[in-house]
Amino acid sequence: MDMQELTNTAKKMVAQDKGLLAMDESINTCNKRFAVLGISSAVESRRAYRELILTTPSLNAYISGVILSDETIRQEKLDGTSFMKLIDDAGIIAGIKVDNGTVAMPNHDGERITEGLDNLSERLQEYYAMGARFAKWRAVITIGEGMPTDACIESNTHALAIYAAFCQEAGLVPIVEPEVLMEGDHTLSQCKEATEKVLRSLFNQLYIHGVALEGLFLKPNMVVPGLNCKQQESIQEVAEATVNCFLNCVPAAVAGIVLLSGGQSSKLATGRLNAMNQKFGFKLPWPLSFSFGRALQDPAFEIWGGENIHVDAAQKALLFRAQRNWLANRGEYSAVEDIKHDLESNVTVSK
Ligand code: 13P
Repeated sequence: MDMQELTNTAKKMVAQDKGLLAMDESINTCNKRFAVLGISSAVESRRAYRELILTTPSLNAYISGVILSDETIRQEKLDGTSFMKLIDDAGIIAGIKVDNGTVAMPNHDGERITEGLDNLSERLQEYYAMGARFAKWRAVITIGEGMPTDACIESNTHALAIYAAFCQEAGLVPIVEPEVLMEGDHTLSQCKEATEKVLRSLFNQLYIHGVALEGLFLKPNMVVPGLNCKQQESIQEVAEATVNCFLNCVPAAVAGIVLLSGGQSSKLATGRLNAMNQKFGFKLPWPLSFSFGRALQDPAFEIWGGENIHVDAAQKALLFRAQRNWLANRGEYSAVEDIKHDLESNVTVSK
């Protein structure tokens, strides 16, 4: 393991308060989101959308790294320039999602396990040779009647730790993502309890497998009430519960925490991240940043809608969200500015 290379990459991933942009939706997920807007599920639609993201002017001012899928890492701009060259020329670090998605767990109704350890070592070597310097693996944990079970937590955190060890051996910084899902009517304190249990198990597995925490990022969910829970806590309460949870469970040695957005609205995700850094930034032992997918992409995606003529406006919307989250990393984001921006660009305020 080349520790120096891993820590150098990790430092660049959180330098200058920048964050990560997750654009690694699987072909299925991407097509499902396209279908909602009536966009064709052809490979060309996905390529065009990813070109829109990667050619956004000045994206590198706020985004240090992008997470790609296996399809996207091999694609090109219309003019034949490979996406990897485009990313490299922009001084952005390329990352790659290497899990193969989830399957239902036998004997555990409603729970899922992430697959993808087969041939992982060879796949990582190939991605490294293509220029990727970090990777991502996502596990999903559901809260519900009797869930999450120990079986679900332990099998998923075990796989995350093995994946992380393979990544470091191959020279890629692993992002470990154990996502406790927002779906359900559970309370914020149930989410906190489940998230803490998962994180304790994860760091125990990472320790058992000899993973170097200085060359690893944690990508967790925020501690939030379920989407159908009647009691929805304030931004400040969510920020406090989330930070306390991480302070309790995440060793100071990790290179950073990069939050997922998990289906929150763009503004709520930014507001909560901002509250965490504004109120607690000074006492956190690790950088607390973002690795959002939907919360960065959604406004741009809706504006684009599959039409070339909307590319410029969509890129402006993406850059705006990237900048807002960069401000949130500094604790300097203002929701009022967001509303003003919406009014000026004629976008509905509720978006
Ligand atoms: P969301 O921010 O949309 O949850 O996506 C992040 C991600 O990478 C999920 O694996």
